[in-house]
Amino acid sequence: MSNHTSIEQFTQRVLKSYSNFENKRLEKLVQSLIKHLFSYIKENHISNEEWEFTWSFFAEMADFTNEQRNEFLLLADVLGISQLITRLNSNRPENVVGTALVGPFYRANAPLYEKGKSIIIDQHPDDHRVSISGKVMDMNKQPIVNAHLDVWQAASNGFYENQDPNQSEMNLRGKFKTDKMGNYNLIALMPTHYPIPCDGPVGKFLEAAKRKYYRPAHIHFIVSAPGFETLVTQLFMAGDKQINEDVVFTADSSMTGNFVKEQEGKFSLLYDFQLVPGKSIYPKATCI
Ligand code: BEZ
Ligand code: FE
Repeated sequence: MSNHTSIEQFTQRVLKSYSNFENKRLEKLVQSLIKHLFSYIKENHISNEEWEFTWSFFAEMADFTNEQRNEFLLLADVLGISQLITRLNSNRPENVVGTALVGPFYRANAPLYEKGKSIIIDQHPDDHRVSISGKVMDMNKQPIVNAHLDVWQAASNGFYENQDPNQSEMNLRGKFKTDKMGNYNLIALMPTHYPIPCDGPVGKFLEAAKRKYYRPAHIHFIVSAPGFETLVTQLFMAGDKQINEDVVFTADSSMTGNFVKEQEGKFSLLYDFQLVPGKSIYPKATCI
């Protein structure tokens, strides 16, 4: 290291040049990022070749990113970052349904269905269905009337409708409202496990880490009502061993339901949601 200033002086010079933001929160985040990145680079003595690899990897992620797929979000998901941020920003007590990351396949504007209707547009004879019903309640177990439930899931081939040209627009997506008693009911596909998109740089990364790239069977829910914190969650199957191997570290026992077989190909599930008071902020759609 033959330059005239020390690494410490150099670090201070960089930090000082980012000390004039009008937005002081942004300034704090940028300065903290610089400090942590500099520490990381020094601690690991990042080589020129490792740096070249890093920016090429980011360029490759950009190539795989479009309106239907965000490789940067996918990387954050498999690193546990998305689930960490989700959990940090939720004030939910331990004894209620937990929160889950939104995931990269959420679309706004799913069709609004009447209570009891099905989100399955494309019918396949071998698909199994589940009737899901329950209440949306506050923390005192009082029903919430007109709460919204936004539901989406992957088809049995493992693809969300917007990943798969053979599925109808908005297949397996739908919105529902609770009735006067706070009850909801909808018909969905019995969920199956599926691989996350692995044909891009995140796939190579998982392969290098020798990690499995599956998500356990689940159905996504966003449950919202004015005056309550919006609940972004996923419903998993009680007893599913793959819950412990979720590639995005989301599944756990706080989000499982008992799917009961009623007859061949037909299941039922009772599942209640409790909302905590707070701001009703809806997550940004991850796809168009
Ligand atoms: C999903 O459940 O849709 C999902 C979440 C994170 C990464 C990939 C898919
Ligand atoms: Fe999913």
